[in-house]
Amino acid sequence: MGDAASQGAVPEVPGRGGLTGAPQGEVWGDPAAGRGPSGGAGHAAGALPRAAFPALRLRRLRGSAGMRALVRETALAADQFVYPLFVVPGTGLRRPIASLPGQFHLSPDAAAAEASAAAGEGVRCFLLFGQPPAGRKDAQGSGAWDPEGAVQLALRAIRAAVPGALLLSDVCLCAYTSHGHCGVLAAPGVPGAARDAGPVVDNDATLPLLARVAVSHAKAGADVVAPSDMMDGRVAAIRAALDAAGHAGVAVLSYAAKFASGFYGPFRDAEDSAPAEGDRHGYQLDPANRRQALREVDLDLAEGADMVMVKPALPYLDVVAAVRAGTGAPLLAYNVSGEYAMVRAAEAAGWASGPELALEVLLAIRRAGADAIITYHAREVARLLRAGG
Ligand code: PBG
Repeated sequence: MGDAASQGAVPEVPGRGGLTGAPQGEVWGDPAAGRGPSGGAGHAAGALPRAAFPALRLRRLRGSAGMRALVRETALAADQFVYPLFVVPGTGLRRPIASLPGQFHLSPDAAAAEASAAAGEGVRCFLLFGQPPAGRKDAQGSGAWDPEGAVQLALRAIRAAVPGALLLSDVCLCAYTSHGHCGVLAAPGVPGAARDAGPVVDNDATLPLLARVAVSHAKAGADVVAPSDMMDGRVAAIRAALDAAGHAGVAVLSYAAKFASGFYGPFRDAEDSAPAEGDRHGYQLDPANRRQALREVDLDLAEGADMVMVKPALPYLDVVAAVRAGTGAPLLAYNVSGEYAMVRAAEAAGWASGPELALEVLLAIRRAGADAIITYHAREVARLLRAGG
C-alpha cells in the first residue's frame, strides 16, 4: 500500500501533531468515568491528542474476514436460542402452519421427533405452546391444566427422547378459554376504576388458575415455566404454588415486559387464541411505555422471577437495552411470530434473503443486550452457524 499512513509519513493534522502510535483518546469512554453530555470522558482537558484521518482508518478493522472475526463484538450461538413448538392433541401429526411458513402443529410424539432433530443441530431449548382437543375450550380454560393435555404429554415425550433438552412451557389460558382472553372474565359491572367497553379479565381470580397450569407443567417435567398472561402478582402466585407442590427447582421465566402488539397476529392464527371480543390492551403493556416496562421487570424480579423477557423483540430493542442496563438477571427477548412472518414474506416475494435477514435480526437482538432469544428461526440459524454463518 502506498498511502501516507502506511509509510509512517503522517501529515500534520491541526492540533494532533502526527502522534502515530500514541495512545488515543477514547471517544466513547471509560464507563466508570461516566460520559458527559458533550461526549467522552477521555476528551476531557489534559487528554492526549487523538489520531484522526488519514492516520486513523477504521476500514483497517474490516478489511478481511480474519480481522472482522477478531474484532467482532457480538456472537450468535445455537445454545442462545429457544425454539417454540406448537403442540396439538393426537398422534403422528405434523401439519404446516399457514401463517408461520416452516413451522408446524405437532402432536406430542411428533414434537419429540422435532426436538430430537433440532438437538442434532445444536438447539436444545424448547418453549411449548398447546391447544385443547377440538370443542374443549371453556370459560376457565381448564384444558390448560389437564395432566393428559398435549403440552403435558409433549413434555414427557421430549424429556424421554432428547437427553439434555431444556424444557420451557408457556403458562397462559388464552388458547384454552372459549372467549380467547388470557384469564377468566370478570362479571359485567364490577365497580371500580373506569373500564374499557368489552370483557375485563379478573386478575385475582385468574392467579390460582395460572398457578395450577404451572404446577401441572412442572409435574410433567418442565424445567422452566413462562407465564405470558400479564396479570399482576402471577409470578409470586406461581412461585408459591410450585414450592408448595415440591417443585422448588423449577424456574420462572416471566414475560415481564410483554407489549400489546400487532406482531402476535400469526401466532394467534396458529393457536386460535385471538380474543372473541375486545383486545388485550387492558392487561398487556402499552407500546408507548418504556418506564412502565421497567417497573414490570422490577416487580417480577421482586416476586421471584428467575429470568425476565421482553416481547416482541425488534420493535422494542430500546426496552431490551434498558432492561439489560438495569438488571443482572438473565434476559430473554421473544422474536415473535409477526417478526418471523415478515422475514418469510419478504423472502417469498424475492425482496430479500431470508437467511441474511434472520442472522441480522438475531444479532441485533443480542447486540441490544439479550442473553437468549426465543425464535422460530432457531433451527434455520443454527444450521447457518454450523455452515459458517
Ligand atoms: C399467549 C401468548 C402469545 C404469544 C406468546 N404467548 C399471544 C398473545 O399474547 O396474544 C405470542 C407469540 C408470538 O407472536 O410469536 N398469551
